Amino acid sequence: MHPSQAAFPATRFRRMRRTESLRRLTQENVLTANDLIWPIFIRDGENIREPVVSMPGVDRLSIDLAVQAAEEAAGLGIPALCLFPYTDPSVKTEACEEAWNPDNLTNRCIRAIKAAVLDIAVMTDIALDPYNSNGHDGLVRDGIILNDETVEALVRMALAQADSGADILGPSDMMDGRIGAIRTALERAGHKDVAILSYSAKYASAFYGPFRDAVGASGALKGDKKTYQMNPGNSDEALRLIERDLREGADMVMVKPGMPYLDICRRVKDSFGVPTYAYQVSGEYAMIRGAALNGWIDGEKAMVESLLGFKRAGCDGILTYFAPAVARLLRG
Ligand code: PBG
Repeated sequence: MHPSQAAFPATRFRRMRRTESLRRLTQENVLTANDLIWPIFIRDGENIREPVVSMPGVDRLSIDLAVQAAEEAAGLGIPALCLFPYTDPSVKTEACEEAWNPDNLTNRCIRAIKAAVLDIAVMTDIALDPYNSNGHDGLVRDGIILNDETVEALVRMALAQADSGADILGPSDMMDGRIGAIRTALERAGHKDVAILSYSAKYASAFYGPFRDAVGASGALKGDKKTYQMNPGNSDEALRLIERDLREGADMVMVKPGMPYLDICRRVKDSFGVPTYAYQVSGEYAMIRGAALNGWIDGEKAMVESLLGFKRAGCDGILTYFAPAVARLLRG
């Protein structure tokens, strides 16, 4: 090295961080409203907006208000929302028949939103937990979660949602073989254009706590979901699940939860190059909101930073309860 060069750094990275315009010019990843899928909680009744205690700022909405929320979201440029029903304990059974009732809460809500003819895709969740008296995503016999019997039930559930007009189906149950079974059934029923966003790499996580409260499943759940959701210690297995779900007919894949699993998002995107989504789940939302409400972090900045992290990790989009708040902020 020439002695005169040693006196100063060869590269000054701070040069490009000096002003806001230079920082904007060199920014590699951006967050836009197009990256957002908004999960909303729905319930029966009319003109009801009921706060979810463990998720400050999130409400359960009756269908009429869910339609208004969809209108608002479409106006903000959010491309999709995802429906999660809060079901009354009285409709929950061990056979979960309500899951494929054409007139259940979710199916009525899909039809109501589609009738409003908005430029927004309606996504649903496919799993039996909102309708199961024991809170599990699958049918249970003698304490065992039954795989193949559950897949048959999920297919019925999927067809009822597709018949109601759902644009994207989101199987979140983690049974084996459900994507292929649902895809085949959709094709046979003439629903060739209904998309599947598979919750392919869904971990058995402690971060789902507030969600189970929001849908009224926390009291019902007996045991845990570790025999079907993934072990948080695994990474290669996620790639095998994604490969399998793509082969079986998934159009898009998801990693869930989000922030503790950004390494998985990156591996999935690099390995397959397919539309990849992450779910910033209820517990992640509650952590950020809770800390912000206590004045411990700047909630708005933490929200944007957490979502930008998903883009940096290779995600094409994020399911997040922050969707309307961040879309409003991005609008300025
Ligand atoms: C149901 C389902 C869950 C979530 C989405 N779909 C809960 C679970 O698996 O227990 C969690 C979402 C969140 O925590 O925000 N299968």
